[in-house]
Amino acid sequence: MRLILLGPPGAGKGTQSKILETEYGVAQIATGDMLRAEVAAGSPVGMEAKAVMAAGGLVSDDIIIRMLKNRVSQPDCQKGFILDGFPRTIPQAEALDALLHEMDMDLDAVIALEVNEPVLVERISGRFSCKTCNAGYHETFKRPKIDGTCDVCGGHEFIHRADDKAETVHARLEAYNAQTAPILPYYRAQGRFFTVDGMAEMDEVSSQIAAILDRLHALN
Ligand code: AP5
Repeated sequence: MRLILLGPPGAGKGTQSKILETEYGVAQIATGDMLRAEVAAGSPVGMEAKAVMAAGGLVSDDIIIRMLKNRVSQPDCQKGFILDGFPRTIPQAEALDALLHEMDMDLDAVIALEVNEPVLVERISGRFSCKTCNAGYHETFKRPKIDGTCDVCGGHEFIHRADDKAETVHARLEAYNAQTAPILPYYRAQGRFFTVDGMAEMDEVSSQIAAILDRLHALN
């Protein structure tokens, strides 16, 4: 299975990709997570990306495309992958098409999560994650089962993302509207483009995505 999950910041791409990764045994490729790892490691890519990410802008296409090419050629992507946060510009979408063509691969589906702006802001501002294992939570929508303890690893330290501050969130939404939203018609024109109601509860969003994948599977 090769899938793209599209949607604005906070739409639920990371949440749903992790569920799909577990259910279908395919790799989640989250360019935001990869960039945060580069920033934490202090690598040249991380140093270049850090200020752009902190300001809510998009990291250069060159860096991202190079990073993505390396990632999809890893053995764990042989069975398939879910792209979370990539592509984000028309040049990235075109580079992905060229790469898939080179590798003699097709995309099964491009699924866009639709969520309105006030809800996006609410989701991002309440988000936090476990410092040890990176499991994601939300102050209202997904609290740990035991307050202060990570459900996954039992860790007790939680962190907020540096770019989840209110002023940065607005810059990220602007970047999405200006640079990423134009790729929706690009994929709609290619077919196998689907939208789901990302405002629904997490389980319901997962069911909508599963129904799309089941329908596609039945056609193949
Ligand atoms: P990235 O890490 O990709 O961030 P993003 O796209 O802004 O998306 P988020 O991670 O904020 O949201 P999400 O859709 O994954 O939502 P989540 O599931 O966490 O990118 C960060 C930065 O890196 C970019 O700004 C850019 O600078 C750079 N970058 C990355 N990729 C790039 C690229 N390709 N090109 C250039 N630059 C790039 O959910 C959010 C919260 O809501 C969570 O707390 C969750 O628990 C909750 N939630 C999820 N679903 C629901 C639901 N259905 N109901 C209620 N709550 C929900």
